Amino acid sequence: MYRDRLSLFPGTVALTPDKRGTPALHVGGRDLNELAAEFGTPLYIYDEETIDNAVHAYQDALNRHYPGPTGITYAGKASLNLAMAHLMAAHGLLLDCTGIGEMHIARTAGVPRAQLLMHGVNKSRADLQAGLAQAGTLVVDNLPELEGIAQLVHDRGPAPALWLRIRPGYAVDTHQFRQTGQRDSKFGMDAGECVDAVAFCQRNELPVTGLHFHQGSHFHAAEEVLPALDVVCELIGRLHQELNWWPQALSPGGGWGIAYHEADLPHQSIEAYVATVAAALAENLSSYSPPLPRLQVEPGRSLVARAGVAIYRVGTVKQAGSRRWLLLDGGMADNIRPALYQARYSALPVTDPLNRPPISENAWLAGPYCESGDLLIEDLPLPEIKPGELLAVPVSGAYQLMMASNYNGALRPAVVMLRDGAAQLAQRRETVDDLLLRDIA
Ligand code: LLP
Repeated sequence: MYRDRLSLFPGTVALTPDKRGTPALHVGGRDLNELAAEFGTPLYIYDEETIDNAVHAYQDALNRHYPGPTGITYAGKASLNLAMAHLMAAHGLLLDCTGIGEMHIARTAGVPRAQLLMHGVNKSRADLQAGLAQAGTLVVDNLPELEGIAQLVHDRGPAPALWLRIRPGYAVDTHQFRQTGQRDSKFGMDAGECVDAVAFCQRNELPVTGLHFHQGSHFHAAEEVLPALDVVCELIGRLHQELNWWPQALSPGGGWGIAYHEADLPHQSIEAYVATVAAALAENLSSYSPPLPRLQVEPGRSLVARAGVAIYRVGTVKQAGSRRWLLLDGGMADNIRPALYQARYSALPVTDPLNRPPISENAWLAGPYCESGDLLIEDLPLPEIKPGELLAVPVSGAYQLMMASNYNGALRPAVVMLRDGAAQLAQRRETVDDLLLRDIA
């Protein structure tokens, strides 16, 4: 009954007998029990092969379905550290950094300027200065920002390529906290403002070369992009006619969703999503004479989420009223998503995950933090689980550690990258001394 859950795990997942002959979960050629023993828990592991395969799925689909040039930007906000920046840069992807902080990580990883793109809805002066000095592409959110850029460029020299972020007026169907494309969203400019922005760039000799939109994150029907694409293509027609301007690049943002739970399966493929966007864009612009703009997709979650697994150790097992509680050594401090978006996850025990007899009472998985909202998974069918056992939560690679906190003095977990049976520590676990690093005695 738990077998479907296996397909939520990274592509390299396997069940391999341990020393006593009991099957245990393996990922990237490594036994999760051994990884937990070596690196401690909670532990976040990433299977690099699963990331490679997601990148290739985007690349193959773009090559197959778009008649013009294409590219991929990785939205670093989903998961960023030096190892991840290296991996994405090695794949030739652009790296989207929100502001000076993520830019610093990417630069420290040695990502070349041409591969750095900066986003941000309310960029500070420091963000803008970093973007202008270090990024190959800067996505402009609004007109005052553009005026600030013109001033800084005037003072300091050449600008990176500028793309304008249009607010298309259509969001995708997702949690409201993740919607960005709607008419009253805080992100981007409406079509009229984009026309003004291009005219401003022309007057001020700023290198405006692209358009960008992003309707929201974690949607599941590719067709949801089409109304926004229509708006953007209409704008392109207008810019062509009124200002004789044509984009070299067009980014439909990211947002393609994934399956987190067995109830989300099957999920439409990356190829289906890309095919829909590519065909609509090519068709929409087919009557114009300039060459098709580069189609630059910008996924985060769909590249990294499934590659990640969070491993927790069960401490107390408690019956309270009708609930069977499994209390874990991590929860809302490393994964705020259930509390913030009612995100629904699944889990398997690391040892003998599939063959234990089911029991009638579902499990409630919670962390050690002082909030009843610290609830990782509600009402999940699981066999009997004993204190001290390890549980693996799949699809943990996106927006978990990036939104992690030190709430209740929690120490952020270690991150380990796996490839071909080798485990590389990418980020060490925090120590109690890290909690004092910013304090002034
Ligand atoms: N491009 C822009 C401009 C974005 O704002 C985002 C995500 C992406 C691309 C990538 O979207 P993705 O492909 O990862 O869906 N914390 C939320 C997700 C917030 C997404 C923010 N922007 C969550 O945990 O679900």
